[in-house]
Amino acid sequence: MTQKQLIYWWQKWLRPIVIRFAVAVVLTIGMLGILGSTAFMSYAIAPPTAAAFNTQLVSLTNRIQNDTQITPEVTVYRSPDCSCCGGWIDHLKAQGFAIKDFPTPNIEAVKQKYNVPDNLTSCHTAIVNGYVIEGHVPADDIKRLLQEKPNLLGLSVPQMPVGTPGMEIGNQKDPFTVFSFDRKDAVMVFNKYPAS
Ligand code: CU
Ligand code: CU
Repeated sequence: MTQKQLIYWWQKWLRPIVIRFAVAVVLTIGMLGILGSTAFMSYAIAPPTAAAFNTQLVSLTNRIQNDTQITPEVTVYRSPDCSCCGGWIDHLKAQGFAIKDFPTPNIEAVKQKYNVPDNLTSCHTAIVNGYVIEGHVPADDIKRLLQEKPNLLGLSVPQMPVGTPGMEIGNQKDPFTVFSFDRKDAVMVFNKYPAS
């Protein structure tokens, strides 16, 4: 084979093959690179997406739990002839609470049974999620109680202040306090109306 023949052979046959092979190698490496980085990206992105989804699922579950917990059933014990009790029951129903109404001639016995302190008594005694609700306690305070779940026996608005839910007389609104009480008869201020 002469040198001339060799050059001819290289130019005509071998060079195009070498060039094509090189291009193919470069393209393959490039494709693998793209595929690899895509796979890497999807791995990198997937965990946060899953975490976000999980967070949403947890918050949704919490919301459903809260929704069912802040509007549970309230069992109300009251005198059969108490009209303001009915007003308070209507207020709770309007706030989403389900009511079990138990008119009873001996409401004092109920207060004793549930350890309502003598100086905190009112017209009716209610039970919700194990807490005692004495008197015309606003629904908002009951919801807060059920959400915070403090270690208390219950809440009370003693006597029957005018302007409490169920005790509306025109536009008159007497200031009143929502008290909390616990197993040791420790009485504390839970809320005040109007807010000071
Ligand atoms: Cu009343
Ligand atoms: Cu009442």
